[in-house]
Amino acid sequence: MFSSPLTDGAELCPLEPWQAEEFADYVERNRAHLAPWLPWATTITDAEGAGRFLGAYAEAQREDRGRIYGIRREGALVGGALFRVFDVPSGVCELGVWISPEAQGSGLITTAAHRLIDWAFQVRGMSRVEWRAAPDNHRSHAVAQRLGMTREGTLRQVFPFNGVRQDLVVWGLLAEEWG
Ligand SMILES: CC(C)(COP(=O)(O)OP(=O)(O)OC[C@H]1O[C@@H](n2cnc3c(N)ncnc32)[C@H](O)[C@@H]1OP(=O)(O)O)[C@@H](O)C(=O)NCCC(=O)NCCS
Repeated sequence: MFSSPLTDGAELCPLEPWQAEEFADYVERNRAHLAPWLPWATTITDAEGAGRFLGAYAEAQREDRGRIYGIRREGALVGGALFRVFDVPSGVCELGVWISPEAQGSGLITTAAHRLIDWAFQVRGMSRVEWRAAPDNHRSHAVAQRLGMTREGTLRQVFPFNGVRQDLVVWGLLAEEWG
């Protein structure tokens, strides 16, 4: 399996449709932690659903418009990151992240996000990385700030989620601000 080392026995790895069962188990175990912030943590309830989700990302990767990665520590899946949007013509991408409670607070997410942003800017020549989070997702805002992103504003009621139209805070980072 191809992977990119992070820190402390952790690595950033592909997350592919053949791993649907493992991903479904991961979501099941971490649902309470992830579901307040991530719609897919509610909709993925079995290996079939996980396969559809990972399959959609495999297709997005094939078309170079999105990507998904797992974060493993000592081989165990503990989190992940994705480019929900990867729009090469406009040079804009959006990064999202998650990690299980037992691996939270270790810097793994900041390190993984750093690696992916580096790739987006330096290898792919992207111009802008976005990060979107609910106003009360303080840990997510802390990561964006740690990465040197600028809090650009709030998209009001942009996100229909759990029966309400939620606001999302947008953070942005430009290629010329990186490095
Ligand atoms: C948002 C989320 C991914 C943030 O994870 P996290 O573990 O807080 O982020 P990091 O891995 O960057 O860890 C940061 C912590 O590690 C510490 N740390 C240790 N070594 C570090 C290093 N080398 N680099 C950066 N931080 C380091 C930081 O000081 C910080 O400590 P704190 O928690 O005491 O403030 C996580 O809370 C989560 O999965 N939440 C649920 C899903 C979610 O909301 N996803 C985002 C949707 S927008």
